[in-house]
Amino acid sequence: MADKTEKQQQFPRFRLMARIEHIVLLVSFTVLSITGLPQKYIEAPFSETMIGWMGGIEAVRMIHRYAAFMLVTGSAFHLFTGAYRSLVKKERMRIMLRLSDARDLWDTIRHNLGFLPEPPKMPKFNFGEKIEYWAVIWGTAVMVITGFMLWNPIATTFILPGQIIPAALAAHGGEAVLAVLSILIWHMYNVLLKHRNFSIFTGSLPRHQMEEEHGLELERLETGGDPWPGMSLPVLQKRRRNFLIISVILSSLIMAVLVWLFTFEQTAITTIPRVTREVFVPLATAVP
Ligand code: HEM
Repeated sequence: MADKTEKQQQFPRFRLMARIEHIVLLVSFTVLSITGLPQKYIEAPFSETMIGWMGGIEAVRMIHRYAAFMLVTGSAFHLFTGAYRSLVKKERMRIMLRLSDARDLWDTIRHNLGFLPEPPKMPKFNFGEKIEYWAVIWGTAVMVITGFMLWNPIATTFILPGQIIPAALAAHGGEAVLAVLSILIWHMYNVLLKHRNFSIFTGSLPRHQMEEEHGLELERLETGGDPWPGMSLPVLQKRRRNFLIISVILSSLIMAVLVWLFTFEQTAITTIPRVTREVFVPLATAVP
């Protein structure tokens, strides 16, 4: 009985903000993929069907832009919550890659090959999760930069050479395929197949999964460690006010720049219908 209760014991894993941010990312990324890939593979039969379901190419292109707005604002919000935790709460950024991650990776390989009896005890975020997180950051940056170029092609070529637009299109489409495949293969395997891990929705993880993937963090929590170590509340309250003022000013500025970037140019929004012209060839030139 005691064993069963121990098994069911849950440990804190994700804050409410992190869970909200993940939902925003999940929704925007899914919509962007569903509306982006049929445009990349426009000739494929599945594209025609999907575009038809979504109300035609004009609608698909507009939905892609609204979802892009959601992804960009969600990413900006993530930067603010990260800055708050690191600058105000003085939390240690446990998502940063460290030398110990390389050691954990090496020990995991040795364990999988049977050279090490026990797997390594890993911290709050193990090396695989850290790599995945930084790949998302890097991938989102590429998508946002190239996406804005495709959105404002004329404005972009005021500053950069014209070849940048086809280059941006190739990078945007290629990175999209890479991102979708890595989510479907790597992420889904880790959170649904290897074991069901719903901690990003529920906020907590059961003991056996903590033991397997975050042994060091489990030890820390069980010896009374704070799930989110930071500053004491009275000191925090003073710093919080200053941060709030700065972040309201900064986020208003970012919003203004975003709205400007999202509405600056209409060139690449209207789908130009294919022009079919009758070509007149004078008989005199056709007969030698
Ligand atoms: C990570 C999420 C994203 C995915 C998976 C994605 C996917 C795609 C794909 C596959 C295409 C078609 C490329 C081609 O034809 O070769 C596309 C086009 C485009 N994307 Fe994205 N995209 C994402 C994010 C963004 C963002 C953040 C923006 C804007 C800031 C953006 C703006 C655009 C624009 C303007 C086009 C051109 C489509 C058109 O002409 O209407 N995308 N996207």
